[in-house]
Amino acid sequence: MTDGVNTRELIDPYLDWAAAEGVPVIEGYGVDLLAAETKPWARFGLDGAIVHLKARGDFVTLYVHDLKPGGASAPIRHMYEQLVYVLSGHGSTQLEGDDGRKITFEWGPHSLFALPLNMRYRLFNGSGRDHARLACCNTYPLVLNCFMNERFVFNCPFEFPERLGQQGWFDGEGAEINFKRGPTLWETNFVPDLTSFKLKPYGIRGPGSSNIQFILGNGIMKAHVSAMPVGTYKNAHRHGPDFFIFNVTGSGYSLMWYEGESDFQRIEWGHGVVFSPPDMMYHQHFNTSAEPARYLAMNLGNRRHPFTGERKTQARTIGMSNKDGGRQIDYADQDPRIHRIYLDELAKNGVSCRMSEFMDESVLLDRMKERA
Ligand SMILES: [Fe+2]
Repeated sequence: MTDGVNTRELIDPYLDWAAAEGVPVIEGYGVDLLAAETKPWARFGLDGAIVHLKARGDFVTLYVHDLKPGGASAPIRHMYEQLVYVLSGHGSTQLEGDDGRKITFEWGPHSLFALPLNMRYRLFNGSGRDHARLACCNTYPLVLNCFMNERFVFNCPFEFPERLGQQGWFDGEGAEINFKRGPTLWETNFVPDLTSFKLKPYGIRGPGSSNIQFILGNGIMKAHVSAMPVGTYKNAHRHGPDFFIFNVTGSGYSLMWYEGESDFQRIEWGHGVVFSPPDMMYHQHFNTSAEPARYLAMNLGNRRHPFTGERKTQARTIGMSNKDGGRQIDYADQDPRIHRIYLDELAKNGVSCRMSEFMDESVLLDRMKERA
């Protein structure tokens, strides 16, 4: 007898919700969010789309929000964390507590901010002429698949004042944190411009590489920005899913492959393009432009709150060679095609390889000769 009993199996409440929202659901390895079709999204009072990248993880998803010229979103609060990266346009965010207290801050292209957990907010386009387009990375799948009731997620009155951080953290101020090992963290709620934020040297991920990690809204998500000097590329590495990567400055490409595969998936970088390295798929980032290339990654788990065991392992092994129990491929061990492809791409752009300024480039050139 099954009367009144749910007999569906393998239910994913988040996917059911996404299919019923009435906005485009876009899929792919790499998606250009600036070109993505959007439709009116009643829940948020703006136009939008949902982006499901191939082999994405279980816990994090991505929305596109598009504010028309002069437009504003509907007031909303939700029991999931959301980090917002501004792709285009200028505007402001207004947060409002249950006591009526308001916090307002203004953003522009390449701003990054947190919407603190379950705080009511509105987004305003400050231009009467241009659209504003936002990439919103959030933990809704994690939360909805846990509670299985969207009314709870969007109508819960609980407040989390501990997520607001310190005075000035919505004005671009923050606090630097240095743990025993690993990259430097900057705790804040708002970064006005990722293109100019000062990074710290972080050579273990690639020659001349620099990095900063952000904890925003005292949450379980993280963002980080990495930069590659002109004429360089990073070491290949791999880790768990739920990472979303955006080009911030310069240009280049990324290669992705599973261990043992003979072909690479290739993602061309460009402002507005997002991709997500799937679970334990090797990936490697290349700067082919005549300026330093920066990228932004937003993901679940950070050094303070890693959330998963996988993220703890990653924190422990970041920058560590496969030979030492890590998940990074030494240049001396990489597929010889990788350096050849890179040199060819640089030549197309009239840019010289500068790996030799940071390492013994003969390691790479000898590897190519071996194959030839
Ligand atoms: Fe990675």
